[in-house]
Amino acid sequence: TYLVTDNCIKCKYTDCVEVCPVDCFYEGENMLVIHPDECIDCGVCEPECPADAIKPDTEPGLDKWLEINTEYAEKWPNITVKKEQLPEAEKFDGEDGKLDKYFS
Ligand code: SF4
Ligand code: F3S
Repeated sequence: TYLVTDNCIKCKYTDCVEVCPVDCFYEGENMLVIHPDECIDCGVCEPECPADAIKPDTEPGLDKWLEINTEYAEKWPNITVKKEQLPEAEKFDGEDGKLDKYFS
């Protein structure tokens, strides 16, 4: 599966949802997640994210993100249409440690 990771938080550009062929993105207040059981590993969303927040789970060190994507895909509503990015997306792009500070 592919996973949404830290740098989506407080940016939420949502370009990713437009290209997903199986509509497997789910929306929290500050970030999206991918449903790992629905993702078909096509990879088209990865280059679409302006914040470079989408990674394949084959990358090392993403265990925590697999847990978060799995848990919140069951809790948050599905999103299939792009919307405006969060107002301070540019400012927060690349900030370290967003999970601990702003996850929602
Ligand atoms: Fe959707 Fe493909 Fe991205 Fe998985 S890899 S979330 S199926 S666009
Ligand atoms: Fe987040 Fe990137 Fe999608 S910032 S909402 S994963 S386009």
